[in-house]
Amino acid sequence: MPDLFTPMHLGDIAIPNRVLMAPLTRCRAGAGFAPTALNAQYYAQRAGSGLLISEATCIEPRAHGYPSVPGIHTPQQVAGWRLVTDAVHAAGGRIVCQLWHVGRVSHSAYQPGGAPTVSSAAVAKASAVRLPDGSRVPADAPRALTSREVWEVIEHYRQAARLAKEAGFDGVEMHGANSYLPEQFLRDGLNTRTDEWGGTLENRARFHLEAVKACVDVWGPGRVGVRLSPSGAYADLTESNPRGTYGYLVQRLDDMGLAYLHIMEAWVGDEAKTRRELPWWEPIPVSYFRGLAKRTPIIVNSGFTFEKATAYLREGWADAVAFGRLYIANPDLAERFKRGGAGAALNTPDESTFYTPGERGYTDYAGME
Ligand SMILES: Cc1cc2nc3c(=O)[nH]c(=O)nc-3n(C[C@H](O)[C@H](O)[C@H](O)COP(=O)(O)O)c2cc1C
Repeated sequence: MPDLFTPMHLGDIAIPNRVLMAPLTRCRAGAGFAPTALNAQYYAQRAGSGLLISEATCIEPRAHGYPSVPGIHTPQQVAGWRLVTDAVHAAGGRIVCQLWHVGRVSHSAYQPGGAPTVSSAAVAKASAVRLPDGSRVPADAPRALTSREVWEVIEHYRQAARLAKEAGFDGVEMHGANSYLPEQFLRDGLNTRTDEWGGTLENRARFHLEAVKACVDVWGPGRVGVRLSPSGAYADLTESNPRGTYGYLVQRLDDMGLAYLHIMEAWVGDEAKTRRELPWWEPIPVSYFRGLAKRTPIIVNSGFTFEKATAYLREGWADAVAFGRLYIANPDLAERFKRGGAGAALNTPDESTFYTPGERGYTDYAGME
């Protein structure tokens, strides 16, 4: 019976434990959206994790939509990431790069030449977005990408996957979750296209599958993962048939023999409130996907504790568990779990410093005594 400390392979990536670090945007990239020595220190502190998944990293200039998040589309950014991957490897860890395109979850203030943001359809996100100075404003209307332009975006995934290799990562994770561009194509609440990128389920799922294929072309399937949020209710993006849509997608991804599927269970604060406000919302347990993904390891995430993680591994619903907020506050989380199990003493994450600049709340959480 595996536990959190049973070594395993995620495709071609050998991991010594199953306590993984979830991707975490921390808004602390340096000039030119390039990682810095401070970012390298932060990741290296967490190298005891079986696998670090980097913060979401923008694949092209139009992919940006948050202040001070890193990219992987310029030589300066590749050099910055090299600092990170070298520091992680020197500390004995492994790290994959989460490849990100926000689509309409952005603002023209981030876009080259102040152009409109891009998406599957010309419908603005109803809720606010953050400007580069941190203030919140209504999202402005995106422009629907043409069919040919969507293929160009897929080429940006390929190029970013190449640059991630050049930067020394151990693989890539296609960020297919949380209502960003891939889900803006997948979900029928937004995608009303009539070309090969919309209409049928097969067409709506094409973006995820082609973006992942582009990564596989560069890395081989054994070093490519994909993150999905079938229960996600973020950024007012609805889906009329989550089980059918994500079930189909997971089966097609499973056919590709990937390193892993990274599935978020419900990522919402208050379930009762969410149900009232979003009647369409249907949380799906990861066990549903276990039955559909016959060959691909599953990483599960969202709201996990040591006990819950151990139970999921024991039941066979997932193969590894990613921890987000606990890793922010506990750089040595895997070691703490190993030593203390369910009773491990843990620091509490300070939400007020999740997205603020500098060391505070970033590299200054205390390790174990
Ligand atoms: C500060 C913060 C930043 C996040 N950034 C990302 C991100 O860059 N990419 C992503 O896929 N999810 C992101 N998430 C979601 C986390 O990866 C994770 O799914 C979430 O925190 C739930 O897991 P937890 O309960 O273990 O914290 C972020 C969450 C937080 C709190």
